[in-house]
Amino acid sequence: MIRFESVTKRYPDGTVAVDGLSLEIPDRSITVLVGPSGCGKTTSLRMVNRMIEPTGGRILLDGQDLQQQPVHTLRRSMGYVIQHAGLFPHRTVADNIATVPRLLGWDRGRARSRAMELMERVGLDTALAKRYPYQLSGGQQQRVGVARALAADPPVLLMDEPFSAVDPIVRKGLQEELLRIQQELGKTIVFVTHDIDEAIRLGDMIAVLRTGGRLAQFAPPDQLLSAPADAFVEDFLGADRGIRRLSFFTSAGLELSAAPVVGADDALPDPPAAPYLLVVDGDRRPLGWADPKRRAAGDRTLIPYGRPFQAEHGTLREALDSAVLSPTGWAIAVDGDGRAVGVVSQEAVAAAIRAAHAGQGGAPEDAEPAGVR
Ligand SMILES: Nc1ncnc2c1ncn2[C@@H]1O[C@H](COP(=O)(O)OP(=O)(O)OP(=O)(O)O)[C@@H](O)[C@H]1O
Ligand SMILES: [Mg+2]
Repeated sequence: MIRFESVTKRYPDGTVAVDGLSLEIPDRSITVLVGPSGCGKTTSLRMVNRMIEPTGGRILLDGQDLQQQPVHTLRRSMGYVIQHAGLFPHRTVADNIATVPRLLGWDRGRARSRAMELMERVGLDTALAKRYPYQLSGGQQQRVGVARALAADPPVLLMDEPFSAVDPIVRKGLQEELLRIQQELGKTIVFVTHDIDEAIRLGDMIAVLRTGGRLAQFAPPDQLLSAPADAFVEDFLGADRGIRRLSFFTSAGLELSAAPVVGADDALPDPPAAPYLLVVDGDRRPLGWADPKRRAAGDRTLIPYGRPFQAEHGTLREALDSAVLSPTGWAIAVDGDGRAVGVVSQEAVAAAIRAAHAGQGGAPEDAEPAGVR
């Protein structure tokens, strides 16, 4: 565990970047430091591997004051990833990744096979091993940066806005990759971002800092969304935090109605079983909605169904979105293979949201994290 005890950093020009920060960063989980530009995130992070020394307070690693640990051993136990990856431009991808193992004295062959293993782990084609960083896309460079940080299998990973320089879609891919890697490896990750959505997606715990390096709130994401500590945190969270919080409730409890389903080539029942019928293919995958009246008039066009949600592994947010997007007001529930397993109305989703809040003690403010991302 990493523990900040009243840590302060005053730069020589008098700027107080971090002011009396006390924080317990739990092992084997992702703790995100988030806050506006200049609030002291980078300074806080760099004090963990002693690239910056505090001017007050202390930081403990597993109960030991960092000041008592030699800087080089400390740094080797902590992978470090920054924006734009910070790769060595004149080294190949494989050599970049093998940097720390080589410093630790691994022989070339072992370092190289470790580099290949890590490329696979972070979702990079090993055919890229001999390229130079400038021959990679931004997203690929970030993956190399993550692989390099993981190379010597350090228990701690420090990440400073690692995904900020790539477009939103690549960024989402990198975030998912990080969550997957974390599930396999269980590192203690301290992750800096100014993007609250990224913080909520990745963080097991989130520390919101305000300008001047003061802690505004330290909480799991669900609790942050349901009970922001003050107006600053609420403002920083932004609009629709109630909707976003629905991501933390599973859709598994929704009562599905049997879908009024017809096959693509079937005749419609007469009289129709419902105002709209869901047309599916031979594997029960949704194709669209059919309006029985239009069909009767010979019009076989299907109405697009929007976006189905996963019945077992989805969230109430996805179910609500699905219902709102659906032209019929019915959200389509699918299984892991995309087969329709039922439908649920907007009203039923709304009722499930009320029940979820009630099940957590009535007001959303009392909520415990449900652990669903
Ligand atoms: N070497 C330095 N000397 C003086 N002031 C500094 C120094 N480095 C940072 N600062 C100041 O300390 C404050 C915190 O800087 P820091 O880089 O930690 O912020 P940050 O939260 O990481 O911001 P950003 O989101 O923009 O990266 C800022 O006001 C910054 O100007
Ligand atoms: Mg910074």
